[in-house]
Amino acid sequence: MALEKDGRDGFTSRFGIICAAAGSAIGLGNIWRFPYVVGESGGGAFLLVYLGFILLLGIPVMLSEFVIGRRGQRNALGSFKRLAPGKPWYLVGVMGIVAAFMILAFYSTIAGWTLEYVVKSLTNSFADKDASEINRLFVSFHTQAFWPLFWQIIFMGMTAWIILSGVQKGIERYAKILMPFLILLLIIMAIRSVTLPGAGQGLSFLFRPDFSALNSRVMLAALGQAFFSLSIGMGALITYGSYIQKQNNLGNISVEVSLADTLIALLAGVAIFPAVFAFGLDPADGPGLIFTVLPNIFQQMPGGYFFAIIFFVLLSIAALTSSISILEVVVAYLTEELNMTRRKATIMASIAATFVGVFCTLSFGALGNISIGGLSIFGLLDFTASNLLLPLGGLLIVVFVGWYMKRSDVKDEISNSGSLKARFFDALMFILKFVAPVAIAIVLFDSLGII
Ligand code: TRP
Repeated sequence: MALEKDGRDGFTSRFGIICAAAGSAIGLGNIWRFPYVVGESGGGAFLLVYLGFILLLGIPVMLSEFVIGRRGQRNALGSFKRLAPGKPWYLVGVMGIVAAFMILAFYSTIAGWTLEYVVKSLTNSFADKDASEINRLFVSFHTQAFWPLFWQIIFMGMTAWIILSGVQKGIERYAKILMPFLILLLIIMAIRSVTLPGAGQGLSFLFRPDFSALNSRVMLAALGQAFFSLSIGMGALITYGSYIQKQNNLGNISVEVSLADTLIALLAGVAIFPAVFAFGLDPADGPGLIFTVLPNIFQQMPGGYFFAIIFFVLLSIAALTSSISILEVVVAYLTEELNMTRRKATIMASIAATFVGVFCTLSFGALGNISIGGLSIFGLLDFTASNLLLPLGGLLIVVFVGWYMKRSDVKDEISNSGSLKARFFDALMFILKFVAPVAIAIVLFDSLGII
């Protein structure tokens, strides 16, 4: 265990960091959120825009977060305070903490559903059911109060428990092992899905762009999904960046993590959409999409009983390695800035997040008739955090690194004090100064009707 000079806990190996950052990025965002947002946004054209945003905005924002965190050596808020003393930049960190609570709230709702589906798989609940029966099974589960809340609390408890054991023992160890298995399983599911009769329609939905489906709402959805999936815009990777050692190459890590994340989302898309069409389901079905589609695929697979169990277990673990990165933002803030013990910070933050999460979970059932601006409580939390706070946070983060920080300091951080060549540096600075801020601002403000 390498303690930094000032005694901070940190990641011990390059592999550990990659796994922790990829563990944060890869989660429900790829496998649950990506397909349902693609489905609601009309398919192929959305996908193209999404990929463009990952490349042009996502990777630069991720790298910027790492730069801020490793240079600041603090939590998201504290890093801004250190790098810009006496300036209001720390408000970006405040916004991140607000976003963290909102995301944790709805994330734990959906992760709770995933845990229920582990049990449903174990008890062979999908056996001999057709698509409409599988749909009914989902509806009758997620509209109740007790079990969804029960699983949500279990999930938050597991998240808190890992966070309690600290960065290195907790995050690094759990993130290290299981991602390759998830990829393998998704490949098998994708193969089964594309060989179903009628699968072609799903593939053209996903890969043949229909540009008439694009509008400012869809552009914002793509931006929000890109940021959500990469875990950027709220300081999770500032926090992780502060645990990265000085000799690691931040640029490489950003590219590798983004590639892995995008690959998994694409695999999930290829597993889902052919099946959606093959089983006559609706791609715009919303947040329940994977829960009503995937059991149908398992039904059509030899050994599907086991595949279903393994898949939902792995998805739960992927969700955990993501949710810990969200909770860590809050806990690192409370311990470093407010001098709380790690234990107290973790307990308080998880209780607060669970409290908000309860309303989110119930918004699929008992509180289903509450509508705020046409959105349910879940929809409102998701939209505000993912589509507003993350892009706004990302915008401020690139402006901070592009315009506020000294160019030589940024170069120092990216080149590890000159030991790396950082050939892409000028291009990167151009993106950070001009391309990314303008692009994010246009998408965000256009869809809000501000410009
Ligand atoms: N990216 C994760 C996922 O795809 C979710 C997540 C973890 C996240 N940390 C985050 C999203 C920080 C936004 C910000 O499941």
